[in-house]
Amino acid sequence: MSITSIKIKELVDKREEARLGGGQNRIDAQHNKGKLTARERIEVLLDEDSFEEYDMFVTHRSHSFGLENEKYYSDGVVTGRGTIDGRIVFVFSQDFTVFGGSLSETFANKVCKILDQAMKIGAPVIGLNDSGGARIQEGVRSLAGYAEIFQRNIMASGVIPQISAIFGPCAGGAVYSPALTDFIMMTEATSYMFVTGPKVVKSVTGEVISTDDLGGANVHATKSGVSHFLTGSEEEGLLLIRKLMSYLPQNNLEDPPVIDCSDPIDRLENVLNEIIPENANKPYDIKDVISATTDYGEFLEVQANYAKNIVVGFARYNGRPVGIVANQPKFLAGVLDINASRKAARFVRFCDAFNIPLVTLVDVPGFLPGSSQEYGGIIIHGAKLLYAYGEATVPKVTITLRKSYGGAHDVMSCKQLRGDLNYAWPTAEIAVMGAKGAIEVLEGKTLRSIPDAEERAEFIEKKENEYSQKFATPYLAAKYGFIDDIIEPRNTRFRIIRALESLATKKEVNPPKKHDNLPL
Ligand code: HXC
Repeated sequence: MSITSIKIKELVDKREEARLGGGQNRIDAQHNKGKLTARERIEVLLDEDSFEEYDMFVTHRSHSFGLENEKYYSDGVVTGRGTIDGRIVFVFSQDFTVFGGSLSETFANKVCKILDQAMKIGAPVIGLNDSGGARIQEGVRSLAGYAEIFQRNIMASGVIPQISAIFGPCAGGAVYSPALTDFIMMTEATSYMFVTGPKVVKSVTGEVISTDDLGGANVHATKSGVSHFLTGSEEEGLLLIRKLMSYLPQNNLEDPPVIDCSDPIDRLENVLNEIIPENANKPYDIKDVISATTDYGEFLEVQANYAKNIVVGFARYNGRPVGIVANQPKFLAGVLDINASRKAARFVRFCDAFNIPLVTLVDVPGFLPGSSQEYGGIIIHGAKLLYAYGEATVPKVTITLRKSYGGAHDVMSCKQLRGDLNYAWPTAEIAVMGAKGAIEVLEGKTLRSIPDAEERAEFIEKKENEYSQKFATPYLAAKYGFIDDIIEPRNTRFRIIRALESLATKKEVNPPKKHDNLPL
């Protein structure tokens, strides 16, 4: 054997050793928990054979607790670069088989290296999390390592897309790196996130709660809203990330990728002419409207199980990615509350940061009244959505389907918040409030002077009809130019596509400032 062959064999052997992470027994244990290994996850995520690993031969530099005798190549995190549908992405994948995927100083350096490169190149970063948190043996150096990562997450925010998948534990301060990224995905049964675990919760507050009930995937998908996507398996989650990436640009200086579309742009959807129920209080499913208008009826919903009274997600019109924000009459009549406002505001800001046009479908009776909303700060949270729309400079197309009342009318991408093209269906009701509320206020004195209940009811009905005919229509708003056109519902796809194509070269710039002061 030549000396070169010996050295090449040595390299191959070392690579082989590195690929075993913490060893076959720990890999088996990982599989027995129904989890993939760090490298297997990368294989599913990226285009075949596209992954180039960085820093495979890094090991920790710790001497405490006998660690000098226990070292593994890659040191608990697999990092590198590959492609998704041919476009470069950077990846770090925490390796639970090495010290439980816990974060050491060298581990942090590896993650920072790919975050730095991704920023230089302008490419997204995907983090696959499965870790016991700070490596206990490294103490404060581990905490410093986290902070180095946080700082980079913050600088990268709004510059490159950052996606986090949680495939195992993610606890303590470690939760804050995913929290600083754009989207969090969790898998049912195997992932959890919390700032303090059940044991600490019990000792501090006395509350007894299971890991799953405290920070499982379902909790964060439905109650806290921390997670944006809930998937049944890791494979499903990784494929979902690939799909999500297809809607996103590489960075904030690029437009999202436009793809060929064979779905006719002038496809008429007669079903939309009938979708608004005769009875104004009857719900319908806004997702039927979305799927009737988007390319091939596709829609990638974000936070599908949280604040269901508003629907947000990605779709395409004639191959052009958009963010859709739509009130959902099926839940709480589509009312805006604290959670819906926060959910939609964050989504609008993401789309605006990454040049993704916004299509807003409006059917909103107003803000949810009541002390719990007021005490919870609906004023501030509602303002977030208002603010997000007002500051957004991407193309904004708004379609009012039915109700658009009061403050909620203004918030939902109205003309004066720089809505570019605002259309309404003939069924739209754009007014300060609904007929019932309006007549109670306007005719209060007269109503009190009619003692007979039947007579009073007749009077109310007459006045409500008059009000509805006069105010609960799109024509007053159209008269003032607040609505650009009133369109036939079945033509909505075509009108949205034409609007978006005309706005593709839109340029709008906000005044220079250090940063804004979004109501938090
Ligand atoms: C070093 C760790 C570790 C850690 C796990 N391991 N967590 N090593 N530092 N933080 C090691 C274990 O010793 C074990 O090694 C292997 O990883 C697998 O761990 P197990 O406990 O056998 O696995 P499992 O039963 O699945 O339990 C997983 C776990 C548990 C729930 C994550 O390991 C655990 O509670 N770990 C400690 C979590 C923690 O408190 N971390 C610090 C949080 S504070 P062997 O050799 O047996 O395979 C924090 C602050 C961040 O992270 C601050 C940022 C600002």
